[in-house]
Amino acid sequence: MSIPGFSFAHKHLLGIEGLSRLDILHLLDLAEEAISVSRQVEKKKARLSGRTQINLFFEASTRTQSSFELAGKRLGADVMNMSVATSSVKKGETLIDTAITLNAMRPDIIVVRHHQAGAAHLLARKVDCAVVNAGDGAHEHPTQALLDALTMRRAKGRIEGLTVAICGDVLHSRVARSNIILLSALGARVRVVGPSTLMPTGIAQMGVEVHNNMRDGLRDADIVMMLRLQRERMQGAFIPSTREYFRFFGLDSDKLAYARPDAMVMHPGPMNRGVEIDSSVADGEQSLIREQVEMGVAVRMAVLEALSQNLPNA
Ligand code: CP
Repeated sequence: MSIPGFSFAHKHLLGIEGLSRLDILHLLDLAEEAISVSRQVEKKKARLSGRTQINLFFEASTRTQSSFELAGKRLGADVMNMSVATSSVKKGETLIDTAITLNAMRPDIIVVRHHQAGAAHLLARKVDCAVVNAGDGAHEHPTQALLDALTMRRAKGRIEGLTVAICGDVLHSRVARSNIILLSALGARVRVVGPSTLMPTGIAQMGVEVHNNMRDGLRDADIVMMLRLQRERMQGAFIPSTREYFRFFGLDSDKLAYARPDAMVMHPGPMNRGVEIDSSVADGEQSLIREQVEMGVAVRMAVLEALSQNLPNA
């Protein structure tokens, strides 16, 4: 049930930063309604009927792109997936020129993923339609944080008061950043855990506890969220070897035992099995990883629906 009398006042979704606690709760509540739509045989709603959604992905994606496509289609939008691999970006066209070209085709919503932090903000200044950030460099991945929060809330019944350990390559992670902002806004206690080489300078100023070993970082945690080692964003050697990394920071059943007995395990995907997570844990009874994928479609439906209410002639 969405919050009575509350209206989501944003034209774009560029990050969790800038959303209020009520904005976040409103999106999570809308997503709860979207889960039941996705679980029906007839999965169509008409909220985005007549609207055009362009998915513009400059970086590889399985989960985010496919779930935005399904979300748009389930809401009745015409969805176009723009393949950068076969577009004029390959001939040297800039993000801005691509955006201006697409804008001339009068889309209502552009969903963008780009390797540069700030790309979604830049796009939002150049186009007339709503823009959704599907991940910009190491900056933010707001719909991932929303789907993680929805998964946690459904598994634990609340977010407030949970201890959440976010583990691994925090330095290069937009997922970590968006989750820290969201979970802090909803009253969770957030820890970041990983080698000091993979911790951003000044991360403690975001109000998190910082740990450099799994024993301390996972102690009494309700949620253990593992992050992928993001080699595509690494310039230089941040770890001695993946074998060594797994030994100290990879989540296996021995390290999971440091957390609460009823702790749940999350991972945004794609996973590197045997590097940051062992298969026995990823596929085990405490894993929420498959639920996260289902919640991804629901959250993206919620975001598209909330933004659609602020489109012209809505
Ligand atoms: N979690 C996530 O963003 O996955 P994809 O890169 O597959 O979209």
